[in-house]
Amino acid sequence: MLNGRRILLIIGGGIAAYKSLQLIRELQKKGAEVLPVMTKSAAEFVTPLSVSALSKNKVFSDLFDLNDEAEMGHIELSRSSDLIIVAPATANLMAKMAFGLATDLPSTLLLATDTPVLIAPAMNVRMWEHPATQNNCKTLINNGVHFSGPDEGDMACGEFGFGRMSEPEIIVKAASDILFNGPLKGKHIVITSGPTHEPIDPVRYIANRSSGHQGCEIANALTSLGAKVTFITGPSNYKFPESCEIVTVETAIEMLDAVEANMPCDIAIFSAAVSDWRVEKKNTNKIKKNQSKDVLKINFIENPDILKTISKMKMNRPKLVIGFAAETNNLIENATEKRIRKGCDWILLNDVSPGTGIMGGNENHITLISADEIQEWPRMSKTAVAKKLGQKIVDYSK
Ligand code: C5P
Repeated sequence: MLNGRRILLIIGGGIAAYKSLQLIRELQKKGAEVLPVMTKSAAEFVTPLSVSALSKNKVFSDLFDLNDEAEMGHIELSRSSDLIIVAPATANLMAKMAFGLATDLPSTLLLATDTPVLIAPAMNVRMWEHPATQNNCKTLINNGVHFSGPDEGDMACGEFGFGRMSEPEIIVKAASDILFNGPLKGKHIVITSGPTHEPIDPVRYIANRSSGHQGCEIANALTSLGAKVTFITGPSNYKFPESCEIVTVETAIEMLDAVEANMPCDIAIFSAAVSDWRVEKKNTNKIKKNQSKDVLKINFIENPDILKTISKMKMNRPKLVIGFAAETNNLIENATEKRIRKGCDWILLNDVSPGTGIMGGNENHITLISADEIQEWPRMSKTAVAKKLGQKIVDYSK
């Protein structure tokens, strides 16, 4: 149910922190990966070692830890997940969130994030009922923060009333409701990704350096926004986005067939690095080294252009067709011309010159070109590019 989803879990410092261990287990049971963050006082209630061992991830807790910053900066951390859960959300953490304070790593992440946030408040009933906390709740609700609980019942402090943290199963249910009720709910999106392999003989093929990383991140970002994604991928070692329907193909022709089999759809995104050519006659047997005395000659013929084929569909064309343009020179001119020639709505231009490290790397530097605008995005991680594209699609679909 939460397969492939990344959840940043911020554990606040309250007695209910012990339930966060159970929450980690429940989230994992549903297939989510949990990245844990603990406040300093949370470590008084549960040990970072237990949290790390259960989540199988390192615990982040220090804003000024140089090692952590080098591994994953706090801004990056705040954007690296599909959802942030704060459990237990103490009165203090909620107040920091409501006032936009950034005094430690958890509050800074919560201020810097553009990811949905779900909080599970837990505190003494008087603290919960205090006008200050209730005003903070109103501010947080206005700011789009989602709540699970608090529940009514006996408290660790011996009092009775509202302030008990929601049970972990209920928090998991609230998390999946948020993740699957996103603004792209009801949209079917087809994404192509990875390279294609064009066979020469039964053991050799022509390929390219595409890793499929960017396509996977886009699929993850769009399913997080509630879309139903069909992910059509060429051979790739990158971990597939699990919440999608996955179709694996090898060649450009197989990729085109798979795309056509999934029409009509609402939006199509062509991030695959499709081979422009294929071998005219695939050898049925392995070509021997001494088969030809001269240099081995292979004839190539052009592959179908999938992006162009779908962009120019007369009937049932997806409302939004997005292509990529990996260029090494005359970037804007080439990509603008490509968008018009292929007939797609948006093209995401990226500079793949050898020095950029973009092909096969973790970052991308995109310029979005449409009929109305040329918008350069700063260089950022492929995850962040996917989220930004997701937001653009949401704005477009409104
Ligand atoms: O022409 P070029 O390969 O640079 O175009 C890149 C864009 O076209 C990408 O979106 C890619 O997925 C798509 N494409 C395609 N079929 C091809 C070649 C490229 O869909 N045969």
